[in-house]
Amino acid sequence: MGKDVIIACDFKNQSEVLSFLEKFENKRPYLKIGMELYFAEGPSIVKTLKARGHKIFLDLKLHDIPNTVEKAMAVLSSMQIDMCNLHAAGTVPMMEAALRGLTRPDGKRPLLIAVTQLTSTNEERLHNELLIGASMNETVLHYAALSKKAGLDGIVCSPLESKSVHEKLGREFLTVTPGVRLKENDRGDQARVMTPSDAKKAGSDYIVVGRPITAAEDPLAAYEIFMKDFLDEAEN
Ligand code: C5P
Repeated sequence: MGKDVIIACDFKNQSEVLSFLEKFENKRPYLKIGMELYFAEGPSIVKTLKARGHKIFLDLKLHDIPNTVEKAMAVLSSMQIDMCNLHAAGTVPMMEAALRGLTRPDGKRPLLIAVTQLTSTNEERLHNELLIGASMNETVLHYAALSKKAGLDGIVCSPLESKSVHEKLGREFLTVTPGVRLKENDRGDQARVMTPSDAKKAGSDYIVVGRPITAAEDPLAAYEIFMKDFLDEAEN
């Protein structure tokens, strides 16, 4: 199952991404394309990077009525992406519709991962704005359980939550975790971070790493340190 370092390509446009990737020589890292890059370049950015041999996590976090999400997911799936996501807040019928849309005629489909609660939402706003009375932890685990019930493959969460998600929902339910830093890295705006080897020990299946690689003086060297730290631990 999986186990990979996914580089968050938070760049403005294709030329910035391609010049970044030039530094990777013959390596083809797993890439995450988010809204900024996708809305700037459209589907062609996915096709270009797929054609160059990269696996793609398309991070567009869909959230709409089931019929709309089903059709949109069918379009994304036809682009041969490897992973995509949605908001579990769309509820079980929307998640089931997303899976139907993603499933290709041969029965295969990209991995589908849920966002439970955005990490930018704090407990106070969860209670006062979203009017959710349960704690953040209970809410995240409940939304994760609903995602599993709908048939999704896993959730995006902090590496600090990976262990409890796996304890509740099983080892096979994937945790895809941003907020990973080497000890010497600046945390940036990530409040809760873990090192790659600790993320691995906590049970993260994929780590999503942006600035510690994209802003590094030597991005390839930084990527290789993340890969080694994360994958070596995976063998233990
Ligand atoms: O640069 P950095 O390593 O912080 O990038 C992390 C990536 O993961 C960014 O693309 C960010 O949008 C994404 N992400 C996150 N926290 C979440 C969900 C996604 O940092 N809870």
